[in-house]
Amino acid sequence: MGSLLVKNGTVVTSSDEFIADIYAEDGKIVEIGANLQKDADMVVDATGKYVMPGGVDQHTHFNFKFGDAVVMGWETTTGAVAGGTTTVIDFANQEIGKSMKESVDSYVENKIEGKACCDYNLHTVVFESKDEIIQEIAKLPEYGISTCKLFMAYKGHPQHCDDDTVLKALMTAAPAGVTIMTHCENAEMIDVLQKQCLAKGQTEPFGHAVSRPPIVETEATERAISLAKLADAPLYVVHVTTEGAIEAIRRAQLEGYPIYGETCSHYLTLTTDNLAKPGFEGAKYVCSPALRGQEDLDALWVAVNQGVLNAISSDHCGFNYGVHKQQGKDDFTMIPNGAPGMQDRMQVIWTYGVAAGKISRQKYVELCCTNPAKNNGIYPQKGTLSIGSDADILIFDPDYEGTFSVENSLQGVDYNAYEGMAQKGRVEKVFLRGEFVADCGKYVGSGACGKFVPAKPFARAYQ
Ligand code: URP
Ligand code: ZN
Ligand code: ZN
Repeated sequence: MGSLLVKNGTVVTSSDEFIADIYAEDGKIVEIGANLQKDADMVVDATGKYVMPGGVDQHTHFNFKFGDAVVMGWETTTGAVAGGTTTVIDFANQEIGKSMKESVDSYVENKIEGKACCDYNLHTVVFESKDEIIQEIAKLPEYGISTCKLFMAYKGHPQHCDDDTVLKALMTAAPAGVTIMTHCENAEMIDVLQKQCLAKGQTEPFGHAVSRPPIVETEATERAISLAKLADAPLYVVHVTTEGAIEAIRRAQLEGYPIYGETCSHYLTLTTDNLAKPGFEGAKYVCSPALRGQEDLDALWVAVNQGVLNAISSDHCGFNYGVHKQQGKDDFTMIPNGAPGMQDRMQVIWTYGVAAGKISRQKYVELCCTNPAKNNGIYPQKGTLSIGSDADILIFDPDYEGTFSVENSLQGVDYNAYEGMAQKGRVEKVFLRGEFVADCGKYVGSGACGKFVPAKPFARAYQ
C-alpha cells in the first residue's frame, strides 16, 4: 500500500482550518502536524490549496430502473472519484420475491464487486409492503447497513408504501438502530394531477412540475414526521426541496425529535425554468421531487447553512437523454425520473455555495463529507481528516475557473445537468485510502478497488 505525505496545505474540516502536513500509511491517516519529517512513497506539495476529506455522497442510484430504462452501473464510479467523492451510499432495491439480504447480496455480487472504484455502503429499499420484509429491517445492522428507504410516491408501482407500511417500518427500525429514509410525495395528489394534465393535452416535460407542486411534498413530509413521532423513531427525509417541508423538519427538530433531512445539488442551483426549456430539453431535468422556484431554492440555502438539512447529495441517476428520456416523448409521466450529478456535486456546491458566499468552507465539508458519513454510520472512518481515519484526501484548488460540461464527464451519461454554468474551484487531486486516484478531473486509479464500509447502527450522539 505505501505511504503518502501531503505538505503545507490548508487543512479544512467541519470545525477547523489550519496549515499542516498529513501523513498516511497503509491507507490510514497516521499523523497531522506542522513540518512532518517523513520519508513517504509519495509527497505532494499543497501550498495554497485546501486539503479536505474525500466527499461522501449519501444518495446515488446505479443500475436503477424506470420502465424499460436502466442507468449505468458502478463502472461509472470513476466519475464520482474524479469529482472528489471517495465514498457513495447507493440504494440496493429489494427484488420482488427476495429478502433484503438476498437482494443486497445479489446486488453486491453481480453489480458492484469488480466494478466499484470508490468505497461504499448501501441503503435498502422496500419494494414489497409485506410483513417479512418490514420485519427484516431489524436485521439490517447484521448486514452492516443502517438505513432503509421507503417511497411514499409512485402510486401503483411496487415500491409505493402506504402509511401503515411506513409506520410499521419506523416502529421496527427504531429499536434496531436503523434509520428510515422517506421519499416524501403524496402519491394520490400526483396521480390526480398527472391525469388532469394528460387529459388537457399537457404532455411535455413541464407537466412534471405542474403535477408535483410543492404542497405534494410538504404534505407528505408533515405526514412522515407525524408517523415518526408516533413511532418514537428517527426519520431521515431525502431530497427535500420545499420551504414547507423545511419548516416541518425545523419545527420537529425544535420540539426535540430526531428528524433529519438532506437536499441535493440540483435543487440548490436549478429551477423550474430548466423544466420549461424548449422542445423536449426539459426532460433532462425531470427528477422527483420536481425542481422548484427561486423562493424554495433560497430557503434551501438557509436550511443547509442552519443545519436544518444536514447533507447535500447528488441523487445521481444516470438516465441518458438520447434513449432513456425519450421514453416520455409523448407523455411526461413516462420520462424516467432522475438526473446525473455525482461528478459535479462537490464543484457545484463549492461554486454556488462557498465561492458565492452562501456557506463557509467548514459548512461545505460538514454537508458534503462529514454529516453524510455520520448519517450512515461510517464516521469517523469516512468523512473527516483525523488520526485513524481512512486517508481519503482531496487537494482543492480554489482559483480554478471553468465551465460545467458533459465534455469532461466520466458519468457515462450523454448530458450534464449543469451544462454551460460557470465553475469556480475544483478538486485537483484525490486520494482513496492513500492511493492517488484522480488528477484534475481525470481518473488515474488502478480500477475497481472500492470496498464495502460496514455501517454502525444509528447513534444520536453522532448527529
Ligand atoms: O427522480 C429521482 N429522484 N430519481 C431517483 C429515485 C429517487 O426517488 O430518489
Ligand atoms: Zn426518492
Ligand atoms: Zn434518489
